[in-house]
Amino acid sequence: MVSVSHSLGGRLILGIESSCDETAVALVRQDRTIVAQRIASQEEEHAPYGGVVPEIAARAHAERLAPMLEAVMDDAGMSLEDVDAVAATAGPGLIGGVMVGLVSGKALAMAADKPLLAINHLEGHALSPRLADASLEFPYLLLLVSGGHCQVLSVESVGQYRRLATTIDDALGEAFDKTAKILGLGYPGGPAVEQLALKGDANAVPLPRPLKGSKEPHFSFAGLKSAVLRAAESGEHKPADIAASFQQAAVDCLIDRLEMALSSAGPFPALVVAGGVAANRAVRGALETLAERRDMRFTAPPLALCTDNAAMIAWAGCERLALDPDFAGDRLDLKARPRWPLDPEAETVRGAGVKA
Ligand code: KG4
Ligand code: ZN
Repeated sequence: MVSVSHSLGGRLILGIESSCDETAVALVRQDRTIVAQRIASQEEEHAPYGGVVPEIAARAHAERLAPMLEAVMDDAGMSLEDVDAVAATAGPGLIGGVMVGLVSGKALAMAADKPLLAINHLEGHALSPRLADASLEFPYLLLLVSGGHCQVLSVESVGQYRRLATTIDDALGEAFDKTAKILGLGYPGGPAVEQLALKGDANAVPLPRPLKGSKEPHFSFAGLKSAVLRAAESGEHKPADIAASFQQAAVDCLIDRLEMALSSAGPFPALVVAGGVAANRAVRGALETLAERRDMRFTAPPLALCTDNAAMIAWAGCERLALDPDFAGDRLDLKARPRWPLDPEAETVRGAGVKA
């Protein structure tokens, strides 16, 4: 944690994130200093159910947010007076949780007479690589892979996103979580599957690569998940081999679909990955190789900025204020949105993720 004086480093934004199962608060300056941040995971609450229970999530956010705000201010040795704007996730995500964070953000903005910045959670993920890397400029090709989304976006500027691909059924993080459940690895599944895959043979279990080679640059993981279930139920394979083969199939799909997006919309100077699944080393490695082959720069945020956090929400607020320094703030009657596509022009795809 770095404490800097108020006048240095541009404006200071308070970020609040509560769209899924992480309650998070952060203070971020426009010069990219993360002044303070805290994240509380609800893994323990949801683990017995094998996934996030919306009602439990909303209650947990409501219990934790106020003490966490106080703790972050204490960590920074600051008060609300020092903050220049309040950025809160306003969607997409589990509506109860989003409402808790957004209403808190509105109350703070109102009490301190500061602008409210209602942030799209996906925009937080999409811009997070620029928080970590000051030299990353627009445009870039972004693979956004989380528990609720699997999208390829052309990030053209702050607020300008063109969706080039999305999933027609499950998100990749969801497929990781379901694979973990099938293999009895518990929740959240991504890191557990990655660990187990290290001990397995990625060629041992024949699994499909849905939509591979298709001209439509979309993703599909439902068939892969069913094939994992069949492989596990057959009793013929070691769990580690299933995990490794699943991960390899998922990576092959990502690369194939990205190649398709590059052929139709490329070239791009940089390939960027964000969202929880970006923490996966096999995914990162394959993307790095693709970027080298395509003569693109590759960048991924540090692991802590890949999974849900409030620094990325505060940073999206910083980016918006940099674009429009006189912005007076979003309206205080603005509604939380369970669905909020980054590219409103893109056609709705049935089954595409609803979670954050
Ligand atoms: O971005 P995130 O924290 O929350 C959403 O917005 O969904 O992403 C969480 C997702 C979960 O599905 C989790 O299993 C997955 O990211 N994940 C991973 C890894 N770490 C987290 N998937 C694969 N490998 C990982 N190391
Ligand atoms: Zn997320």
